Amino acid sequence: MVDAWDEIADWYAERLHAGSAMHEFARDILLEHLPADLDGERVVDVGCGEGLLTRAAAERGAKALGIDPAQRMIEHALAAEAAHQTGAEYAVDDGCTLATVPSGSTDWVIAGLSLNNVPDLSAAIQAIRRVLVVGGQVVFTIPHPCFEAPGANWTDQAGSPRRVVGDYATEGFWRSTNPQGVRRAGNQHRMLSTYVTALIGNGFVLEAMAEPVPDESVVAEQPRRAGLPPFIVVRVRLDANEIPG
Ligand SMILES: C[S@@+](CC[C@H](N)C(=O)[O-])C[C@H]1O[C@@H](n2cnc3c(N)ncnc32)[C@H](O)[C@@H]1O
Repeated sequence: MVDAWDEIADWYAERLHAGSAMHEFARDILLEHLPADLDGERVVDVGCGEGLLTRAAAERGAKALGIDPAQRMIEHALAAEAAHQTGAEYAVDDGCTLATVPSGSTDWVIAGLSLNNVPDLSAAIQAIRRVLVVGGQVVFTIPHPCFEAPGANWTDQAGSPRRVVGDYATEGFWRSTNPQGVRRAGNQHRMLSTYVTALIGNGFVLEAMAEPVPDESVVAEQPRRAGLPPFIVVRVRLDANEIPG
């Protein structure tokens, strides 16, 4: 699966640089759940890809580290940093282990559309818990699993576009057949309750959850998306009283 992300990394970075309303929307809805001033805060961006969120955190004053297992993604992140310096740092690493990140070394973990790519969610959440300080927070986005389940499609039978979803409860790896889709690299479909249960089981407390509907620029790009949240944003806190013994 990492190979697949390596393979589409050039396409992905090019698409971001060309300007994609959907990507900008995904970035902005996550950033809305981070403090505007991150001066003195440490942020680890899990599955940073081309580094757009890592750079945004660094620009808010954070000491920001982006990690991604796809070497080619990290090369794009480093190139973007060289072209416009924010102080962001990068490492090739797997979100299921975070082997390059010391324990208790960060105040925030962010993960934009990446936890739906890790093969072992439980391992990733345990790794995130390990690197956070107690009281540290995680903000992540995932494609809305209720609407982006395997094989989800569109129908116009009702006279206007409707999303058709089957297989919501069938968890596991799937790959989109859309040659222009990000998820041709693959995606781990999980029910919403699977994410929440894994977070609670690892000592996290829910602080916020949002299902933003697409803004005007996304709707202009993809009219059928109007009114349908493409992503979920979740913010959780590692609570000292909740850490399992
Ligand atoms: C849709 S991209 C999102 C990239 C970036 N966060 C953004 O918002 O543009 C998904 C990213 O997840 C990464 N990924 C895949 N497997 C991963 C893993 N096991 N641990 C961490 N990241 C992973 C991919 O390499 C890819 O960069």
